[in-house]
Amino acid sequence: MKTETHKDMVSEKMNWFKACRTEDVPANGGVCVKYDDEQIALFNFTRRGEWFATQNQCPHRMQMALSRGMIGSQNGEPKVACPFHKRTFSLIDGRCMTGEEDCSIITYPVRIHEGDVYIGVREDRMQGSTACH
Ligand code: FES
Repeated sequence: MKTETHKDMVSEKMNWFKACRTEDVPANGGVCVKYDDEQIALFNFTRRGEWFATQNQCPHRMQMALSRGMIGSQNGEPKVACPFHKRTFSLIDGRCMTGEEDCSIITYPVRIHEGDVYIGVREDRMQGSTACH
């Protein structure tokens, strides 16, 4: 697992906010954290020794559900499946892996520092997303 120093975190043009402690997120599971009015799904992918974060809203039917999705890997790429209709998204770049090209999600970088989990949010990020079908 990559551990960054505080100096590393403030040196980039990214707003890093402290989401929670590492022990607040179940092994191989996810939680929903809030940043302003935004819901972010945070995943502790223990099997890979990695952390990931995405928007919590599934763009299919706009359900706030991805933090409750099943995580796994496809051809070595980490993914999350929405618990509603099983659309699957890459945890690396957010693209839909079940064939719907117009259906993707926002991903966020995650860093761990002294047991705290930080999520990086760009101030010029896109807000929300539109439904896809
Ligand atoms: S609401 Fe997520 S796949 Fe349908």
